[in-house]
Amino acid sequence: MIARQKVWVSRPLFPDVLARLSEYLEVQAEAVERKHTPEQLREYLAGVDAAIISLADPVDAGVVDGNRRLRVIANLAVGYNNLDVPALTRAGILACNTPDVLNETVADYAWALMLGAARRANAAERWLRAGHWHGGMRFDDWLGVDVHGKTLGILGMGRIGQAIARRGAGFDMRVLYHNRSRLPEPVERECRATLVGKDELLRRADHLVLVLPYSRENHHAIGAPELALMKRSAVLVNVARGGIVDDAALAAALREGRLAAAGLDVFEGEPALHPDLLGLDNVLLSPHIASASEDTRRAMADLAADNVLAALGHGPRAGQPPAPLNPEVMKRWP
Ligand code: GLV
Repeated sequence: MIARQKVWVSRPLFPDVLARLSEYLEVQAEAVERKHTPEQLREYLAGVDAAIISLADPVDAGVVDGNRRLRVIANLAVGYNNLDVPALTRAGILACNTPDVLNETVADYAWALMLGAARRANAAERWLRAGHWHGGMRFDDWLGVDVHGKTLGILGMGRIGQAIARRGAGFDMRVLYHNRSRLPEPVERECRATLVGKDELLRRADHLVLVLPYSRENHHAIGAPELALMKRSAVLVNVARGGIVDDAALAAALREGRLAAAGLDVFEGEPALHPDLLGLDNVLLSPHIASASEDTRRAMADLAADNVLAALGHGPRAGQPPAPLNPEVMKRWP
């Protein structure tokens, strides 16, 4: 009997997705959420043909060098800064991600952070739950900043940035963006968005949303000098990646009233948070959940499974994985 190909799944995943994988492959799925060391990753990946992993699993040359068996790594995320794609390409391993299926859900969540932080919904809820609402409340308590009619700034205008921008029309907002390249005119028109320089974006935005991918060049793209350009009444939202914002500089700006509020879903060094953020009331914090709706997390898991099955030559899309990052490696496969 021919041995079945194997896939390792680095974290618990929807059982029906695992069942679909097991129609074609032997599935080794982790039953509990845990951190894997580079040595463990190296060992697990050496014994399988495919892997479905998450952002918490960094895969670099040290993890895959000398691996003769692994064909495909499917990331359970659109961002892939946990993967050293050139190293995977050198090793002949296909890398895949989960683009598009999460655009609208992440855009919804960016707005949830923007509205929640601007109107201080999280701090008000904490105050209420702590039993502070006795009798009267001052008319000038809990004043937030408006969202409607203001200027929305978007840094990084890919598909998620565009989905965030389109929602601006419903709030009667002016939309500015900064991006490596200008969007085609019909897309700009649809998003009602105007390209400006980065400094101008920082100066003019009442609400600034970060959606750019993380890269070494983008490390601390928003640090003390950039925060100093922003309005004192501005709200900053990060649904992109930790490390794009200098969290210590942001905490100082929020503490000193140089920025009104922030909504953060991602952190430098997560799951650890900068301790200064935890002590502040004008920041809404969440544990990297922007894509976490039932429908979207299922769609991401399905897409990761499709990537694996197709790369290994199974199922309706055999040989044509839907979201390859380095498809050129497939030409080198025997
Ligand atoms: C989440 O951060 C993703 O990149 O999908």
